[in-house]
Amino acid sequence: MVYLDNGATTKVSQEFIEDSTMVMRDIWGNPSSPHSAGKKAKDLLEESRAIIAETINTSPENIIFTSGGTESNNLALQSFINYDINVTSKIEHPSVLKPANEYFFNAFKFIKPNNYEGFIEPKDLDTLLRTFVVWKRETAAVSIMFANNEIGTIQDIKSLARITHKHNGIFHTDAVQAFGHVPINVKDLGIDMMSVSGHKFGCAKGCGFLYTNINIYANLLGGNQERGLRAGTENLPYIYAMARQAKRMCDRIDLNRERIMINVDYLLDGITDILKKNKVDAFINGPVDLSRRIPGNLSITIDGINAQSLVSVMDMYGVCISAGSACKSTEPQPSHVLKAIGLTDKEAYETIRINIGPENTKDDIDEFLNAINMALPMLRRANVDV
Ligand SMILES: Cc1ncc(COP(=O)(O)O)c(C=O)c1O
Repeated sequence: MVYLDNGATTKVSQEFIEDSTMVMRDIWGNPSSPHSAGKKAKDLLEESRAIIAETINTSPENIIFTSGGTESNNLALQSFINYDINVTSKIEHPSVLKPANEYFFNAFKFIKPNNYEGFIEPKDLDTLLRTFVVWKRETAAVSIMFANNEIGTIQDIKSLARITHKHNGIFHTDAVQAFGHVPINVKDLGIDMMSVSGHKFGCAKGCGFLYTNINIYANLLGGNQERGLRAGTENLPYIYAMARQAKRMCDRIDLNRERIMINVDYLLDGITDILKKNKVDAFINGPVDLSRRIPGNLSITIDGINAQSLVSVMDMYGVCISAGSACKSTEPQPSHVLKAIGLTDKEAYETIRINIGPENTKDDIDEFLNAINMALPMLRRANVDV
């Protein structure tokens, strides 16, 4: 099987399996217990927090361990209630959009991206905040994702955070697709809160963290774990293994990017020839400048080819890709992200997402190209026959 769907999830690394197994076997105490078994676990928990904090240039007390991206986003957004003006974008993940709509009864303001590339323009945020934050009497809370899960767009986070602060605001970013793949220095970028999920960078599902340098409300009440902000006995095996995986990934960002980009170029050359040969029109969504998108992400709209059918045929040939994001693959509506960047419903239904990871080889790309070379004529014939 060739796996080119690393935006949905990533393969769990061997090191993660070994580190988490070691903790399950040897350090199974409860970090809240006062005896030596508990203290050993507590020490490892704090060591993990320090490792994570260092990867983003913050202090350990600013890290709250959670079950992943969805929980971190919910935890962050819940505290937006403290601010007069709440802002997010139209291309966020549902774990931001749904809390924004449901807890806040449509009080959120939504910024639209520019067409096709999916950038949230800092000047649009400036205009919006200027309209609502008058004489700095009001406060603002803004949530804009670091990198988009469908089209890969990496936002100008530093400018967006600076503008938010200029207007008396705090800035949250959903960095689930970015962390471990692009460098993130929260101090330098001016980020106040940031959500991260382990399974997007080689960890098992069910671990992540929220970085915060502001006061927030707890969303799970109970014991005093995680400074009382996230009650429940900590999942130490995953937390420790995630911290070590985070460090490895952050240390290898440049190397991984280089490796991935060679395969991206190879795939783009190959698919261009195949599309030409089959006389099929196609276009790429998201930034044209590949350095401004998540390494390995390609969102391609292929005229006249239904993306769900293409994903199924590619799967038959042993290649895993996706039609939009994994969490949307069972929904019949066209992607809200693709619609927000200006695609028609038809174009959105004809869009596939490929995510090449650092472990993918040239052979994987060759298999992908062979498969799509067989799939396209087959699906075109099926269209004509209908
Ligand atoms: C941008 C983004 N935010 C949040 C999430 C949710 O993360 P998790 O699966 O860890 O809950 C995802 C998952 O696909 C994502 O891509």
